[in-house]
Amino acid sequence: METRILPVDAGRIGRVAALPSPGDVLDRLDFILDDHSPDAKHLREAAEKLRQSDIPVAFPTETVYGLGADATRSSAVRGIYKAKQRPSDNPLIIHFASLSQLRSLLRGQPPSSSHGPEQDGNLDDPIPDIYKPLISRFWPGPLTILLPNPPHSPLAPEVTAGLKTFGARMPRHILALALIHLADVPIAAPSANASTKPSPTAAEHVAYDLHGRIETIIDGGPCDVGVESTVVDGLSNPPSILRPGGISLEQIRSCPGWEATEIGYQNIAEAGTTPKAPGMKYRHYSPKATVVLVESSRGAPSATELHQQVGSGRRLGLIRTKLWGIRPSDPEPITQRGAIQSLESPKAVHFAGSHMTLGFSGMLQSLQASSKATSPLQKYDIELRGSTIQVLDIRLGSNVADIARGVFSALRDLDKENVDAIFVEGIDDDEGDTAAAVMNRLRKAAEIRVQD
Ligand code: TXA
Ligand code: MG
Repeated sequence: METRILPVDAGRIGRVAALPSPGDVLDRLDFILDDHSPDAKHLREAAEKLRQSDIPVAFPTETVYGLGADATRSSAVRGIYKAKQRPSDNPLIIHFASLSQLRSLLRGQPPSSSHGPEQDGNLDDPIPDIYKPLISRFWPGPLTILLPNPPHSPLAPEVTAGLKTFGARMPRHILALALIHLADVPIAAPSANASTKPSPTAAEHVAYDLHGRIETIIDGGPCDVGVESTVVDGLSNPPSILRPGGISLEQIRSCPGWEATEIGYQNIAEAGTTPKAPGMKYRHYSPKATVVLVESSRGAPSATELHQQVGSGRRLGLIRTKLWGIRPSDPEPITQRGAIQSLESPKAVHFAGSHMTLGFSGMLQSLQASSKATSPLQKYDIELRGSTIQVLDIRLGSNVADIARGVFSALRDLDKENVDAIFVEGIDDDEGDTAAAVMNRLRKAAEIRVQD
């Protein structure tokens, strides 16, 4: 199967108008696509595939790239599990482009009966009240809410993996919204990586993992948030966070009815603190190399520790965040040899707002991706007791949003360089923002955790 990467510049697809509903929530967007734009043509082709084909389509969201299929067709949803080689007992998140689209699904209506807000007028709102403050604050955005799957649900049973609930999210990436709008069906979409690999935050990552397994990748540049959405359950009392992500616990707790939100995920390493036999490695968000996560409380590893883990004449990846110095702290001297070689940094998010008509204050800001390229990779050798280790060093910076945006990409970049081990500088979970989400993913990726 041939895999095509279709570049789409969000600033060139046409115009979009936001239509707020009375509760000041984004109700829907109206897209007026430019008939002469190649970018809009690519989007239309992808939407057509979503409607007709059983081969999923990869597309950007603000969190990570998603692998989308029509959530109402079983054969299409099965295509996702097949392409990713993902176990089918894991439920998928369903993506909506408007509240009306979500409401019609909750009423058990077929997908394309979603209309404008006026049609909802006299009917009771099927969205549970508990979610209203969250929706008005965080949608469109990196938040997934659990909802009851209605009787006579149009959803394919494969999406919910047999559960009575489903996860719903309205992404804020303009291309994701446009694609779902054009397809006119709710879109089931897990992250577009091969199962067990780090989530993709750029179209190249998707192509690397799924080449030959899917036909279409919409390339909208790198993702803004970099970790997946926060999943919340407001149907239980007290409400809980099932997966940490782009919206923090503090942000959730600041909403009325959500003050007592509990953490419903396990905040522990999957692999424990000791190395396991190679075949026993828990694989999730995992590159090929052994990932060694150094918890923030612990401080930088010494040169001796690095050497013990990697051995001489081999390659070591470093992912540094806040504190580790220009080189890892060393009780024994490390000498750096050779020139530091900078590789090109990934292209920045390109999102031009100039073609947009937005009739809703705040929308422009919330739909615009804040662009930032990740730091370059540097290569140098360190010498220790006469032996040489090659170091491939990525600095993500000290800002948590930058770390979240760059962390999956850094794991992938180092893996491509065939390093033997990757040492990662952990950050403090309590920092708010997306720190908890970053550490949750890193603990799953790590084979070895170094703690106090
Ligand atoms: O940011 C994201 O959410 C990305 C992008 C592509 O939108 N999507 C994503 O989807 O991460 P996915 O399908 O990989 O997320 C599935 C996770 C499950 O592992 C589970 O944690 C939660 O969402 N989930 C989905 N449906 C659920 C349900 N009915 N009950 C409990 N958890 C559910
Ligand atoms: Mg995933």
